[in-house]
Amino acid sequence: MVDLPIDRNKLPVHVAFIMDGNGRWAQKRGLPRYLGHKAACERLASLLRHCRDLGIKVTSFFAFSTENWNRPQDEIDHLMEYLRIFFEKNIDELMANDTKVYISGERDRLPKATLDICDKAVDMTKNNKRFAFNICLNYGGRDEIVRAARHFASDCLEGKAKFSDLTEQTFRSYLFAPDLPDVDLLIRTSGEERLSNYLLYEIAYAEFVFADTYWPDFDGHELDKCLIEFAKRNRRFGGLSRG
Ligand code: IPE
Ligand code: IPE
Ligand code: MG
Repeated sequence: MVDLPIDRNKLPVHVAFIMDGNGRWAQKRGLPRYLGHKAACERLASLLRHCRDLGIKVTSFFAFSTENWNRPQDEIDHLMEYLRIFFEKNIDELMANDTKVYISGERDRLPKATLDICDKAVDMTKNNKRFAFNICLNYGGRDEIVRAARHFASDCLEGKAKFSDLTEQTFRSYLFAPDLPDVDLLIRTSGEERLSNYLLYEIAYAEFVFADTYWPDFDGHELDKCLIEFAKRNRRFGGLSRG
């Protein structure tokens, strides 16, 4: 556990990150954009460690959106390769720390080498309980909702589900990571203040904190500042203030 000047009861259970600003981080240094993604994957590993040290149970990270296929192929190839390397390097540590890995997103179009290591990480860690690490890869919030609706409709046609039984809770079972709790805190780096199609269903009552720092520079100290901000928020969930 690391020291933090806030009450641990005020820590979020689920923190979701939009890891943005990798390209600008690289360009500012006169480097090709893809090296920003390399630095981003290294940052991801260190931030994950920091979250674990703080006792944050669930983390989600936006690594690649369904819209990111509009990037140059060379940038995409590098990013997929860095993600593969990330899992190669970190899979044993995730296992040792009792972390369950979730991959949220569509499998189609992802390179086989990246998919294989993701599958291995999911399979190896499937019985882990202490922490959850959800990586959103080829992920789109609208895609997730439409896909869930399609699966539900098909279960109805096959007699496995009934239209009249659909609730917010049962709908959730069709999402990519149904057993994860709703997002408490969303953090987007790089100064951009939008969702870019991230976790639309799960984020309904999340608090948003935007940091100006580019993701590869977003260290534990930066995260602590966001958590301190989160602890000051008064979450009402449609009810009245708790004073
Ligand atoms: C976020 O960094 C990572 C992905 C979207 C894959 P960017 O690559 O979007 O970096 P900027 O926003 O162009 O600086
Ligand atoms: C969102 O960042 C996706 C990821 C961080 C993976 P983008 O850089 O793709 O978002 P926009 O295009 O600026 O909205
Ligand atoms: Mg961006």
